[in-house]
Amino acid sequence: MKIDVVAGPLETCRTDAIVIGVYAEEGKLRDVAARVDRALDGQVSNVLEAERFGAKPAHVTHLHTAGRIPAGRVVVVGLGKRTDLTLETVRRAASGGLRRARDLGAKAVAIDVLGDRLPARSRAHSVTEGALLGAYTFDRYKREKAEKRVESLSVVEPDARRRREVTDGARTGEVFADATCFARDLINSPANDVHPTYLAKVAADIAKEAKLGLKVFDRAECQKMGMGLFLGVAAGSEQPPKFIHLSYTPSGRRRRRVAVIGKGITFDSGGLDLKSAEGMLRMKNDMSGAAAVLAIMRALPRLSPPVEVHGLIAATENMPSGGAVRPGDVLRAMNGTTVEIGNTDAEGRLTLADAMCYAAEKVDAEEMVDMATLTGACVVALGPLCSGLFANDQALADRILAAAENAGERVWQLPLIDEYRENLKSDVADFNNVGPRGGGAITAGLFLKEFAADRPWVHLDIAGPAFVEKDTAMGPKGATGAPVRTMLCYLMSRE
Ligand code: BES
Ligand code: MN
Ligand code: ZN
Repeated sequence: MKIDVVAGPLETCRTDAIVIGVYAEEGKLRDVAARVDRALDGQVSNVLEAERFGAKPAHVTHLHTAGRIPAGRVVVVGLGKRTDLTLETVRRAASGGLRRARDLGAKAVAIDVLGDRLPARSRAHSVTEGALLGAYTFDRYKREKAEKRVESLSVVEPDARRRREVTDGARTGEVFADATCFARDLINSPANDVHPTYLAKVAADIAKEAKLGLKVFDRAECQKMGMGLFLGVAAGSEQPPKFIHLSYTPSGRRRRRVAVIGKGITFDSGGLDLKSAEGMLRMKNDMSGAAAVLAIMRALPRLSPPVEVHGLIAATENMPSGGAVRPGDVLRAMNGTTVEIGNTDAEGRLTLADAMCYAAEKVDAEEMVDMATLTGACVVALGPLCSGLFANDQALADRILAAAENAGERVWQLPLIDEYRENLKSDVADFNNVGPRGGGAITAGLFLKEFAADRPWVHLDIAGPAFVEKDTAMGPKGATGAPVRTMLCYLMSRE
């Protein structure tokens, strides 16, 4: 979708549809909505009244203009009460508005920088982001492409003095949404195409296009570095594993060095501890963390934050075979820690552990954040719309929680309960890779914590929100692109 910013009146835009916002519990229309209403001889207020349009967040309606203005249709979105307006309301309203315009067959759409209370730059960001995310579809593998598709979007601000900030906000919103959709496409694509070699190829394309540093290590090189946990998981797969390291260096002075680590299991069958058919069905999404890393790294040069960022992915499938790791096997991590395999289906923490060792030893990262579809237990705890956050450093946790709030993604902190550490004891090795059923998301977090080398570290368990079974406010069912926007907000934040 092509985006442009227009400073001028919305009612004279020559598009198939225009989108306006309306507040709840107000006697009459304001600003842009009032002007569009006047241009239509009061048709907007007539329709809203006849329909008893409540203007609650997510309410959407539309009307035909019968040639009274150049646009064929007006889409009206609810913004809720004016005093309650948040950027998330704006984002969702834009998403709902764009979907309606698309379903009406509009190819060119103009949308107001919805609302009037928060900074215009942030509203322009949220409107653009919401519009692009809401209109997302995935039809790469279909013969019949979605024929209803919005091709161009004008973000319209009536006040010409705000043109710069609106242009700026819209551009950032576009980069955020584009990154999110890039991750969505990778995750929605099937595991027969998206294998470790493919992820490495995507990383190479990104490195070239965005001028990032890149190292890709194959099995033998990972062996040399001592990544026994990662290679243990990879042992059962015909697909060669790849360890991917992308790096972004800011042009000016850097504030700090961050490692962003993504779980990159391109398919999780469970290994010899094979999953059930139902449990395996959507396991192409077990590389959602890796997709987020690639999307984030690709976006960084367009946002130029003053931090050095290293994107790390230990990419492999988790498959059963004659060569696969067995329950009871003992593997050795890059930092020398030994791990007994209690369950081959707890593979994510093994691959992440070696990636964390690499972040400490080779990158000397000052902060680490990992993103992983790690445990079903986290989905049981928080459901499909919220990620779990674990941390060994509350200041870092707070910064990421604040970033998630700004980004409009749900993240909730869960505790790393020290006493549960004994659940990871092994009779033969330093640790077992699984504990008891209860508190499974915490046990996984405690396991990872052992590999943070006492550096500030946050673990995001995205098993729920990475991939959803129902359409949400911000996109269709399938991959969501979580937590790309949270991480971009965090890397962009001023601290
Ligand atoms: N990739 C799964 C976790 C998962 C489950 C993600 C459901 C999304 C939806 C992970 O590798 C896994 O299999 N975890 C096991 C751990 C258990 C064996 C300790 C789980 O959650 O059952
Ligand atoms: Mn698994
Ligand atoms: Zn997994």
